[in-house]
Amino acid sequence: MKIPTLNDLMVDVARDMLDAEKQLTKALPKMAKAAANPDLRRAFEKHLEETRGHAERMAEVLEALGHAARGKKCKAMEGLIEEGKEILEMEASPEVKDAALIAAAQKVEHYEIAGYGTLSTWAATLEIPRVKKILGDLLAEEKTTDALLTEIAESVVNVEAAAT
Ligand SMILES: [Fe+2]
Ligand SMILES: [Fe+2]
Repeated sequence: MKIPTLNDLMVDVARDMLDAEKQLTKALPKMAKAAANPDLRRAFEKHLEETRGHAERMAEVLEALGHAARGKKCKAMEGLIEEGKEILEMEASPEVKDAALIAAAQKVEHYEIAGYGTLSTWAATLEIPRVKKILGDLLAEEKTTDALLTEIAESVVNVEAAAT
């Protein structure tokens, strides 16, 4: 694979993120369905809507960079989702399962935070303000979701899981 410039590298990582978001739009409904805690279920459902928007905005980013809005298989997300599937089949109390779902979801959010953090830094370095703005917004939404999951875990789910 030939990646001669930082711009090319940015396109490559953007294509990875587009694919990651698309994979997530298929995985999140299953996670929402598996969640026992209503707040957790709502958080997954809300993030599913956001995730659909993320895929659209990553398509915009690629087009702004002069490339087709085509993803490139994100093997990392494939692995994270594969591990998430194991939770769906786990024999555990609903509370412990919810704690496991949050752990899996936060790994996903951290992957996205790393991806968008890097991409938005590159967009700033390469002076592409329009792209930088989109990536900054995506980064902020992933961070908000991560914080919401922490809140649900610490305020309810972990406490209930510990009591089972
Ligand atoms: Fe996302
Ligand atoms: Fe996300």
